[in-house]
Amino acid sequence: MCGIVGYIGTKQAAPIILDGLSRLEYRGYDSAGMAIYDGEKINITKSVGRLKILENLTHGGETMAGICGIGHTRWATHGVPSNVNAHPHFNADGTITVVHNGIIENYIQLRRMLTDKGYQFLSETDTEVLAHLLDYYYKGNPMETVTKVLHRVEGSYALGILFADCPDQIFAARKDSPLVVGQNQDGCFIASDVPAILKYTRKIYYVDNQEIVRLRADHMHFYTVDEEEIQKESVTIDWDANAAEKAGYEHFMLKEMYEQPKTVTDTLLPRIKDNDIVIEELNMTDDELRGIRKIHIVACGSAYHAGMTGKYVIEGLARIPVEVDLASEFRYRNPILEEGAMVVVISQSGETADTLAALREAKARGFQVLGIVNVVGSSIAREADNVMYTWAGPEIAVATTKAYSAQLVALYLLAMKLGRVRGQIKNKEFVAMLGDLRCLPDQIELLLNNKFKIQKFSNRYIGAKDVFFIGRGIDYAISLEGSLKLKEISYIHSEAYAAGELKHGTISLIEEGTLVAAVSTQPDLYAKTISNMVEVKARGAFVLAVTCEENKEIEKAADYVIYIPETNPFFANSLAIIPLQLFGYYVAVGKGCDVDKPRNLAKSVTVE
Ligand code: M6R
Repeated sequence: MCGIVGYIGTKQAAPIILDGLSRLEYRGYDSAGMAIYDGEKINITKSVGRLKILENLTHGGETMAGICGIGHTRWATHGVPSNVNAHPHFNADGTITVVHNGIIENYIQLRRMLTDKGYQFLSETDTEVLAHLLDYYYKGNPMETVTKVLHRVEGSYALGILFADCPDQIFAARKDSPLVVGQNQDGCFIASDVPAILKYTRKIYYVDNQEIVRLRADHMHFYTVDEEEIQKESVTIDWDANAAEKAGYEHFMLKEMYEQPKTVTDTLLPRIKDNDIVIEELNMTDDELRGIRKIHIVACGSAYHAGMTGKYVIEGLARIPVEVDLASEFRYRNPILEEGAMVVVISQSGETADTLAALREAKARGFQVLGIVNVVGSSIAREADNVMYTWAGPEIAVATTKAYSAQLVALYLLAMKLGRVRGQIKNKEFVAMLGDLRCLPDQIELLLNNKFKIQKFSNRYIGAKDVFFIGRGIDYAISLEGSLKLKEISYIHSEAYAAGELKHGTISLIEEGTLVAAVSTQPDLYAKTISNMVEVKARGAFVLAVTCEENKEIEKAADYVIYIPETNPFFANSLAIIPLQLFGYYVAVGKGCDVDKPRNLAKSVTVE
């Protein structure tokens, strides 16, 4: 969310702060600012927009000379993204400045109290009350002031504070919002997360709740909010190779979610040429493609869910019947494969035992198999007759995200290709669809950058017992994947149902407060899904809806709505899955689960 970096030492502070903030950029933010003490006074530069703007405004920090400063990247909660709402915030004469992550919950009362005492507020933020409250209590003793303020505020905070009267010190404090401090031979650092300062020091202290740190250039002291000094042990951060590959992300899963725009681009773009789709790896002529009578998609887990979406898209665009099988079922059910059938197996790892067995079964019966595979040179890639690679790169987190997204777009390409050669998609429509495909990476990025809405929402469901996902058609396929994401990493029981099935049993499970996530991206089905939402709501459910921007009608039936940008309904899965991935992720993080390596699971299931 927001990022904090501070430095006091013998070096110039501004470039260090800018560098640290840049390492927190992935968290998302809408403005950035710095406060640097120049030897006489505190100077502040802040700007709405990317960190680059702040870098340009300060010539990489050069125009803000000084060896003590604090910086911040803000993601707006109270007040729109703007220069004035950006941090740092300061008191009337600019002698006290503060950067803050978190939310001051009683800021309205505090603001009223301070306004009554004559304080004037410039911004709409909750943070500005801190600057004025510090001013209100400041009688020459910064430590005492900070403790008094912390006793008055409710909510969460990680704070960096500068007093112009004490330019040789930075104060930091924390409650329910992460904060670390570190030290090297040149100075001391504060940061909201380790990667921000890892370049400068590996000697890190984790600040605990309701602790205060007083940092000087050559040492730091830790206190309780009652000013009692405490001793803390430092931790030497020794990133292993894996951690380094996380590129500063807390988990591989988060990093991989953020790689989805690239993954989708890499899987799509090489196959879109001159307003046409060219899938050389199919090794099939247009005549052969026209001869396909049926498609069998076989896969496990999320790859199966991608296959479910593939069924709706291929049937919708190419009018070829599609059967989707779980590989573990397919291999033993003596499936009926008739002439003209095409078998498609989908696998990220290319090593899944059941999928490999299904492939062998199909081949043994004399059918050509197309593999949609991520890992180059894997068993499935080697044994399939033809391979369409999803260019997602290595996926480390057990819960798949980017490989699933790549599988989806590979299936869209296949469906469009088939629809095109079979004359089911008109030229104009085809070109428009290519345009929609090209927009997907940016739209996914937009959804990722808006993650905070879902992150906040997720916090409420850390203690959930059961969660239900419902949807119709493609939305049912999305629900299956959304549900799997949640349960596999957070261990919360969750189920996905075709929304129309609820009345046939499941609805009896709905209790007061049960979360039902309703996915509604298909315009033809909006009204139907709304009816199902109303039914669960009437029985006490809390309804989270994931829908398209145009479907405002849903607000009548939903308690919380996440909108996805406009796209062709056949491609909506690629967008709707993003908030659901984030939901599963943040619930799991909130529960303290081992997100990347959930219990009992392996990345590649090489046994039956
Ligand atoms: O490597 P594969 O795509 O064949 O793996 C299939 C499933 O094991 C996999 O999708 C699994 O369900 C993941 N844990 C889902 O996140």
